[in-house]
Amino acid sequence: MNQPKTKTPNLRALAATILHQVVDKGQSLSQVLPAQQEKVRDGRDKALLQQLCYGVLRQLPSLDFLVSQLLEKKLPNKQRAVHFLLMVGVYQLTSMRIPEHAAVAETVAAVVKLKQPRLKGLVNAILRNYQRQSEALQSKLSQSADPVKFNHPGWLLKRLQQHYPDNWQAIAEANDLAAPMWLRPNQQKNSAQEYAERLSEAEIEAKPPLKSGAIQLAAAKDVFALPGFADGDVSVQDGAPQFAAALLDPQPGEQILDACAAPGGKTAHIGEYCPELAQLVAVDLEQTRLKRVHENLARLGIEAKVICGDAAQPESWWNGPQFDRILVDAPCSATGVIRRHPDIKWLRRDSDIQALADLQRDILNAMWAQLKAGGTLLYATCSVLPEENREQIASFLATHSDAEHVPLNEADTAESPGWQLLPGEQDMDGFYYAKLKKQA
Ligand SMILES: C[S@@+](CC[C@H](N)C(=O)[O-])C[C@H]1O[C@@H](n2cnc3c(N)ncnc32)[C@H](O)[C@@H]1O
Repeated sequence: MNQPKTKTPNLRALAATILHQVVDKGQSLSQVLPAQQEKVRDGRDKALLQQLCYGVLRQLPSLDFLVSQLLEKKLPNKQRAVHFLLMVGVYQLTSMRIPEHAAVAETVAAVVKLKQPRLKGLVNAILRNYQRQSEALQSKLSQSADPVKFNHPGWLLKRLQQHYPDNWQAIAEANDLAAPMWLRPNQQKNSAQEYAERLSEAEIEAKPPLKSGAIQLAAAKDVFALPGFADGDVSVQDGAPQFAAALLDPQPGEQILDACAAPGGKTAHIGEYCPELAQLVAVDLEQTRLKRVHENLARLGIEAKVICGDAAQPESWWNGPQFDRILVDAPCSATGVIRRHPDIKWLRRDSDIQALADLQRDILNAMWAQLKAGGTLLYATCSVLPEENREQIASFLATHSDAEHVPLNEADTAESPGWQLLPGEQDMDGFYYAKLKKQA
């Protein structure tokens, strides 16, 4: 019997559509990409689609520069998807190992899928011209302005240059590299060493576990290929956020609050780290994101009271006892995790930073009131910007005489409080921690 033929969608056309939605329409890649990936059956094609989108978002200004050099005049707005397709085409020629003739042919074929068949000739000519002129164009690119060469929005690069005059280039470069996959073995089920042995038996290459228990894989894997994933023996989490549980240091019998908890990575880790708590409470403002908290806790066998609420207004969702320890993993610019979410560069705006800093201050103030005398508050962000980190905590200390600063290392001083990890340091995400103790 004849099987009905299923058409394989053109991956370049899908990538161009996704990029158009993210860059021009402000939608997040984590929403748009999975929806388009559903149209693709083959796992390798799904991975290729992801690589095209991530790659173009990482190099957007450079690719835009190269395409603009080749176009005689800008394409009109209704043909913007084709502009993104051209970037997908040039990206394949500059940065992927796809044979050039196949990359060009597939990209030209995508023009029809984007319902612009009359532009086939133009796309073909632009890509062929790029092949012919690549050296001269790359040399021109190397002389362009910093935001183009370093593939960052001008406002963000300016902030990085101002705050990190000696290493802004390294930060920008690390932001544009693919991030490794890190695992967090569930220590209630197996030690990090035991889990490393399970990985080795499954022939999954990994580095030896760190003292924190974090394990870095040599290459990304489908989670269901990880030994015991479905049974909750392990979670996927970058190495940097895995410091949170030990820094919070929850003790048996204590009342613990994770104030901005979704999707629940750190809540679960706290529960794994110290299962004999009196109560673990996880709060998040976003009801839809709390679904992931429930799923993660269920898979890992961790119990917590999950509440939808605003951490800046705890009186609306909490009338229980004050907490012994509170983790404030604050909403932030996410400028430390650009390597995992390259769309952040194009979705965030300069004005977001002050608004986020104000929100973080309100959450910190409200959470402080929920902390017992003698209790500990751990503040964390996945940002590299001092306005959200060092300056935020310095200003908190200056306005709260009952707050004692607990240094996490030698560089963590009262004048410059907190521990700032930069993206790529120890192969981890950019992250910030500061620990405060409420005086009795
Ligand atoms: C950095 S993420 C938390 C990540 C989480 N701690 C983990 O490890 O999986 C910040 C979270 O803060 C939440 N959020 C934003 N504003 C909030 C508020 N006013 N109150 C509580 N949660 C808030 C967001 O919905 C988001 O889930």
